[in-house]
Amino acid sequence: MPGGIDSHVHLDQPGAPGIVMADTFETGTRSAAIGGNTTVLPFCLQQKGQSLRQAIADYQAKANGNCYTDIALHLIITDPTPQVLGQELPALIAEGYTSIKIFMTYDDLKLADRDILAVLDVARQQRALVMVHAEGYDAIRFLTERLEREGRTAPFFHGASRPIPVEREATHRAISFAEIVGTEAMIVHVSNRQAMEEIRRAQQRGLRIHGETCPQYLVLTEADMDRPGMEGAKYVCSPPPRDSDSQAACWEGLQQGVFEVFSSDHCPYRYEDEAGKKAPDGNNSFRYVPNGIPGIATRMPILFSEGVGKGRIDLNRFVALTSTNHAKRYGLYPQKGTIAVGSDADLVLWDATRDVVITHSLLKDGCDYTPYEGLAVRGWPVRTLLRGVTVMTDAETGSRRSGMELQRSLF
Ligand code: URP
Ligand code: ZN
Ligand code: ZN
Repeated sequence: MPGGIDSHVHLDQPGAPGIVMADTFETGTRSAAIGGNTTVLPFCLQQKGQSLRQAIADYQAKANGNCYTDIALHLIITDPTPQVLGQELPALIAEGYTSIKIFMTYDDLKLADRDILAVLDVARQQRALVMVHAEGYDAIRFLTERLEREGRTAPFFHGASRPIPVEREATHRAISFAEIVGTEAMIVHVSNRQAMEEIRRAQQRGLRIHGETCPQYLVLTEADMDRPGMEGAKYVCSPPPRDSDSQAACWEGLQQGVFEVFSSDHCPYRYEDEAGKKAPDGNNSFRYVPNGIPGIATRMPILFSEGVGKGRIDLNRFVALTSTNHAKRYGLYPQKGTIAVGSDADLVLWDATRDVVITHSLLKDGCDYTPYEGLAVRGWPVRTLLRGVTVMTDAETGSRRSGMELQRSLF
């Protein structure tokens, strides 16, 4: 099959003070290759006050010479000053940085509604795509403070601090803003039926709204966060895993084309680590547990086994959801995402009958756990080739790091 393309990955991204992401570009792309991927798209986070160019230079310095797969960077805009929106961003889009993530929540990342509209408008004019993290900041803050007052502070209550209506409301708002501005948008990491239906309705009205979902919304639920002690922290991500009806809705969205990409949202923090899931204040409240879970290597095996293996999707849809659609949506097609004369020879050889029980030691990432420990899958990548050269055979990568930063075309 065409090598996997994972268009939603966080590597070496700075977080709250004292918190360290578990994967560098080296360990993250190594694990990606183990999981059958040949291209990943990590985020380049603009720190407040930082120029976008400086942010890109910082990430390029982290990535150069260290990648087992090819990469292309999305921008995250946290500080949309007139200089950033008027000059830097248009110039960078023209150079191929054609996708921009914005956040509707998180203290340090969220944009005000007025700023979201402004970013969408630059994207419209310059032909870029805005990816939206759709959860409402004020509602989360309100619920978090109420839960804390009630003493409901264990990792499990992370889910209760951002229930489905919080995501549905923000999804509706993001779609409305894209409509008001007259542009497209990608709603990322959709976790439930109500948000999926918002996207479906927009698509049925002819709006060009795109959707993404992730493995955690297919095979995890809120019950996973309800484990003894801090164990539940291993599953804390945003939006949180939901319930069985949400899982069914995410499958529906994949089967019916409401979601066009299936990404990992790999965002790894070590568990046995004060710089990770056991952050010092995490015992006092879920709000201090870093959000995000690893999944770069397990994305394709989970979709193959649960999707193709169980008759929910066919092999062509599997390839579209894990590779081709990512290349098309993010300006990499036909160099990537297809097996064709003239395209890069990025391939994954898949043993469709291999039975594997997922365990962390298989994955070769920088984390110290996988949320999918013990999950039995049928089908596993046995060889990954990047531009014709083998970069992974039977779960070994060697030390060759020939991944390059890719040039992307306009959206
Ligand atoms: O919990 C998550 N998903 N953290 C990663 C950052 C994001 O919102 O994608
Ligand atoms: Zn997000
Ligand atoms: Zn993410």
